[in-house]
Amino acid sequence: MPKKMNIPPLDLKREYIFAKKEIDKNIKGCLKNQHWILGEPVKELEAKVSKYLKARHAIGVASGTDALLIGLRALAIKLKNKEYFSKEDEIITTPFTFLATAETIVRSGATPVFADINPKSFNIEPENIKRAINKNTVGIIPVHLFGQSAQMDKISQIAKENNLFVLEDVAQAFGAESLGKKSGTIGECGAFSFFPSKNLGSYGDAGLIATEDDQLADVIKILRVHGQSGQYNAKYIGYNSRLDSMQAAVLLAKIKYIDKFNGLRIKIAQRYYDGLKDIKGIQLPNSGNKLQDAKYAHIYNLYTIKVNHYNRDEMLKFLNDAGIQARIYYPLALHKMEAFKTAKISESLANAEEASKTVLSIPISPFLKNREVDYIIENIRVFNHK
Ligand SMILES: Cc1ncc(COP(=O)(O)O)c(C=O)c1O
Repeated sequence: MPKKMNIPPLDLKREYIFAKKEIDKNIKGCLKNQHWILGEPVKELEAKVSKYLKARHAIGVASGTDALLIGLRALAIKLKNKEYFSKEDEIITTPFTFLATAETIVRSGATPVFADINPKSFNIEPENIKRAINKNTVGIIPVHLFGQSAQMDKISQIAKENNLFVLEDVAQAFGAESLGKKSGTIGECGAFSFFPSKNLGSYGDAGLIATEDDQLADVIKILRVHGQSGQYNAKYIGYNSRLDSMQAAVLLAKIKYIDKFNGLRIKIAQRYYDGLKDIKGIQLPNSGNKLQDAKYAHIYNLYTIKVNHYNRDEMLKFLNDAGIQARIYYPLALHKMEAFKTAKISESLANAEEASKTVLSIPISPFLKNREVDYIIENIRVFNHK
């Protein structure tokens, strides 16, 4: 056995060292200017993200959760002329995601309807969306889980045929693409998170909404500042949800490297694929795709394998004992949680339930060294021969 290593799920210290000069400079700029709320760095970041995504509007908010919630509220205002959706309004989404996706549907007044995932990509399956649609359905929230775009061509087509909105949950997929368009720019709006563990991560909470729609953009900008259309005059019940200058300054230093960072993640995914592909009973994410030409490109926010033939929890313990901080995303599908007991279930959610019992995410970050990747591969192989 190789000498024991300690490998965190994501090594942010190495990323900081790489971009330290620019990050420190930008933070010092904030200290000098003292414009903390929606200051110059926020405007600059919004312009940079809008250019990068080729999105007409990029609007910074306080978190990815707020991006989803404010996006939904703006859609209710635009499409229904109501501040909130009502309980009869159904929004179809995946039960295999972080809780914020469905939590914000409930907070926007609507009812989440869970449709099952594809067992290979872990993303919502378009055919299952189709069957979940009824006269009360108003929209779809696909999640680009683990960094891989959902099947946006099919989802957009279904939405068009049924007059539904699509809000993309892009929290885990900054820089991913679907059929040549950046994820988050295909639906009515895209909700991004800059939580520190995301591919483009801030040093606290931060998020952003992208949209092509001028009317939605106007409402979103009002909602993020307490619903004020003029100073101290509220048009809607809104939020204190501004992206602060310090977070924007950190993100500005990092955004210029996002394609490099995503490219490094793809290289690591390729190394995992080469080292693990012959092991029977382990399903790997589709690997080796080039960022630019893959149909549903993956930028590996997480490298999640599915352990079909082994005891997943035993494997998790084996890796953790070897110093490899593998994790489970997610151990419980949302429809199994008490908080979502009023959500609706469309048909069987067997794939999501199975995934929650068999998935395992192994460390991936741009600066993971080849010898660390090889150590992880070797340990998985040793476990496989036990
Ligand atoms: C799929 C998904 N949606 C939404 C969110 C919420 O983002 P935030 O943590 O920035 O509020 C996250 C973040 O963890 C996420 O992974």
